[in-house]
Parts: sequence; C-alpha cells; structure tokens
Amino acid sequence: MKKVLFVSSEVYPLIKTGGLADVCGSLPPALQELGADVRLIMPNYQSIKTTEDIYYKSSIQVNRMDVNILETRLPGTQVVVWLVDYPMFFDFPGNPYVDEKGDPWLNSAERFALLCRVAVEVAMNRGYLDWKPDIVHCNDWQTGLVPAFLSLETDRPATVFTIHNMAYQGLFPKETRGLLNIPRELWHLNGLEFNGFFSFIKGGLVYADRITTVSPTYANEIQTAEFGYGLEGLLSHRKQDLVGIINGIDAEHWNPKTDTHIIAPFDNLTLSKKQLSKSALQAKVSLPVASKVPVYALISRLVEQKGIDLIIDCLPEMLTLPLQFILLGSGDKVFEQQLLDFARQNPEKMSVTLGYDEVLAHQLEAGADVFLMPSRFEPCGLNQLYSQRYGTVPIVRKTGGLADTVCDALPESIGNKTATGFVFNDATEGALMEAIKRSLLIYSFPGLWVQLQLNGMQKDYSWLRSAKQYQALYEQL
Ligand code: ADP
Ligand code: GLC
Repeated sequence: MKKVLFVSSEVYPLIKTGGLADVCGSLPPALQELGADVRLIMPNYQSIKTTEDIYYKSSIQVNRMDVNILETRLPGTQVVVWLVDYPMFFDFPGNPYVDEKGDPWLNSAERFALLCRVAVEVAMNRGYLDWKPDIVHCNDWQTGLVPAFLSLETDRPATVFTIHNMAYQGLFPKETRGLLNIPRELWHLNGLEFNGFFSFIKGGLVYADRITTVSPTYANEIQTAEFGYGLEGLLSHRKQDLVGIINGIDAEHWNPKTDTHIIAPFDNLTLSKKQLSKSALQAKVSLPVASKVPVYALISRLVEQKGIDLIIDCLPEMLTLPLQFILLGSGDKVFEQQLLDFARQNPEKMSVTLGYDEVLAHQLEAGADVFLMPSRFEPCGLNQLYSQRYGTVPIVRKTGGLADTVCDALPESIGNKTATGFVFNDATEGALMEAIKRSLLIYSFPGLWVQLQLNGMQKDYSWLRSAKQYQALYEQL
C-alpha cells in the first residue's frame, strides 16, 4: 500500500478559492478508496471551516520558528489532514492569498516556504507523527520548495509535482533567498533562479521526480511559449517525466439527483424536472420567469484567464438575442464594474452576483441551459464537467482541459451521439458570438437539445477514473 503525503494551499471544504481546492479535496479520498494511505498537509488558516474535531499532534522547530502540527479529518472521509499551525502567519482573516481587503499577503513567500519546510519534516518522518510517506504529491507553486528541499535529503520519498496553473509561479525578488534561508546549492539558473527572480514553481519543475498537469492538451500547451511563460524550455526538456491527467469531479457533491441546494433533483430519466430549477433560478435572480428563453450562465473568478473581456465585448450583441444571462463571480474590479453596468442597463436580460456563493453555483448549474467558458487558457476547468453532469450544455474555447472534455456539436458528433457542447477556436468576440448563435439554433430544436444534454450527463468524470492514473504513476516511482 503506497503512503502518499498531499501538500496543498487549499482543500475543499476546509478552504477554497478555486478548482485546486476541489481537486485536493476529492483526489485523496479517491486514492484512499483504491487502497492508498493518503494524508494531507496544509496551513491552519483562521478561515478554515470544518465540522470535524481538531487535535494537537506535535511541535517542531523549522528555520528557527516553533510550529505546532494539528490533526483533523477531511470532513465526511477517513483522510487525515495535518494543519501547520503558526498563528503569526495564518491566524488572520482572509483567504490563502489575499487579506480581508483583497490585497495580496505581503509575506506570501514566508507563509508558503513555512508550509514547504514543515511538509519536508513530515515527509522525512521528523514531525513526530510516526509516519513516512513513499510519495510526496505537491500542488502548484505554493508547494514548489518541497521537491527542492527534499532533493538535498538522503533516503527521501519520491516527489510528484502537479501544475494546476502555469500562470501563477510564485516569483519573488531575489533577496527572498536570504530571507527564506534557502541553501546555496538550490540557487542557480538550473535551480530556483528565474530571470533574476526567486521562483517557487521551479522547485517543482526542476526537482520533482515526476510532473503532472491536469489535462493532456495543457501538458502539450505548456511546452510552448504562449502557455509556458518562459518555462516552456524546461518543461519540454522534462517531457519524459511530464503527463497530463484530466481532473475528475466529486460525483456526490455535484450530483443533480441528490443535490440538496436545488429545488427539484433530477437525473437523465427525469430531465424535464430541470425546468423547475430554471424557474426557481430566474425568480431568485429577479429575471422574468420564462421557460422557453434559454438561460446562459457563467461562474468564475473574474480574471483575464477566463475570457471575461470576450464576454464583455459580446454583451452588446448577445443581449439583443432571445436569451438571459446570469453571472456569478468575483475578481478584477474593472470587470466587476463593467458587468454590473450591463446588468443595470438590461435588468430583464442579465443578472450579476458578485462574490463567492457555493449554493448559487449549484442552482446555476442545475437551472441554466447553457454554460459559458470562453477561457484564454484552461489547464482543466471543472465547471464544464459539472455542467455536463447537470444537463447544462457548455460553450467552451478549444484550449487545455476544455478541448479534452467537450465534444463540439457538428453533424457527425450529433449523429453518433457524442456531441456534448459547443467549441470555438479563436479568442475573439466574433468566434464566441458564432458559438452562442449556434447554440441558440440547436436550442430551437428540442429533440436535438435533449440529446446533447443526455450525451453530457452520461459521461464518466468520476475521480476514480483519474485516481487510477495517478495510482499507476505512483507505482512507477
Ligand atoms: P479555477 O480553479 O481556475 O478557478 P476551475 O474551473 O477549475 O477554475 O474551478 C473553479 C471552481 O470554483 C468551481 O468549483 C467553481 O464552481 C468555483 N467558483 C468559482 N467562482 C465562484 C463563485 N463566485 N462562487 C462559487 N463558486 C465559484
Ligand atoms: C486551476 C486551473 C483550472 C483547474 C484547476 C484544478 O485553478 O485554472 O483549469 O481546473 O486548477 O486543477
């Protein structure tokens, strides 16, 4: 039985800002189900939410800091979670990356370097937890120093580094090296140095035994200049060790048949009940309750990655079409204001909810007809998967995981019942508008539309499928 230590800055349902938390909350229990002994380690943020008890486990000293390790369980599972307790860094309101006001933490490098150091102590069985993993599985830049530090140890566990997003690299001024007390051996161009900066992500990309990312298409894309942000050379140099494994979804939490957040649960045999969620949604966001008008939805961090600017460019024309548009998101203040302005000028057609709202997210997936994901890049993307499960037809740009998981509605794929959505190529207003119009056309043929919905609902995006691929990777190490 492989013993795996999972390291992450966010884990659902303890704390979440995006898909990283979803993955780190679902993959460990799925691996456990396959027989692995998986434990998680993450910071003990003030905003952690849990129904489970939290116990004191041990105390250690790293880099002259006295840290407690607390233990809890991932709610509803048997997965042990260790919390790195250092109040001077983590006992503040806010999320893992920004404070209460939305400003990035000024000591992010120190916060996540501490997480990495404690993870290394635990990985080497020096955390007084009486457990040594065979594999340390790190996620995104916040954990990048773990493979780097471990490379200096003898008799160390193997390391896997998963890239959830190359756009976030954890780059800091080079003086950070001194501040963090990083050993000299790690500081060079083939190490943690990147164009004169201190790079957390390079710790993972250079020193991990294997690198994974969250879709096969993204694994190829990041080896090109457009998606590699200067690290494409390193990634293609390591391509033998790099693999793309598509994310799964938490099939219990995102299940239209048992979803407690929606008014009338449904499945592929009772699809007509989706209509009830649609009316409830329209009423909730104060749009006209109209069963024949298709509802387009978008749930997202409002950042450039997600193609929000393309949506904004499309809105003047889109809002003249016979549809409604409901958006839930938060992020860039300029996008937020522009979207609010459109909604205010078109109260019968568009609704915007700013903020983070898990319940509304479920109601949107259940009640909408179409889901928009015009991302400029998307390592995997989860909402297009949730959408397919809920009979909500996605419109996506052909990139990363979106390209790997949505099959465009074309004559052939409609004919052989593989079509699950609408895919467009160019990151332009024109290409997105064309996809929106194509979806409206097919929506006007109810028989065709229902077939698209059913094709998506029948696809298997369970974690078990992906977990088996991770398991196979662990076996090689
Ligand atoms: P990313 O991790 O890049 O943000 P993903 O598609 O992988 O993109 O995952 C986003 C996750 O965050 C999904 O579970 C989505 O429902 C959720 N999410 C994003 N914004 C919000 C919001 N404003 N309210 C509720 N859930 C949100
Ligand atoms: C990142 C990516 C997203 C992916 C998620 C989980 O945040 O932007 O595409 O689904 O990580 O892997």
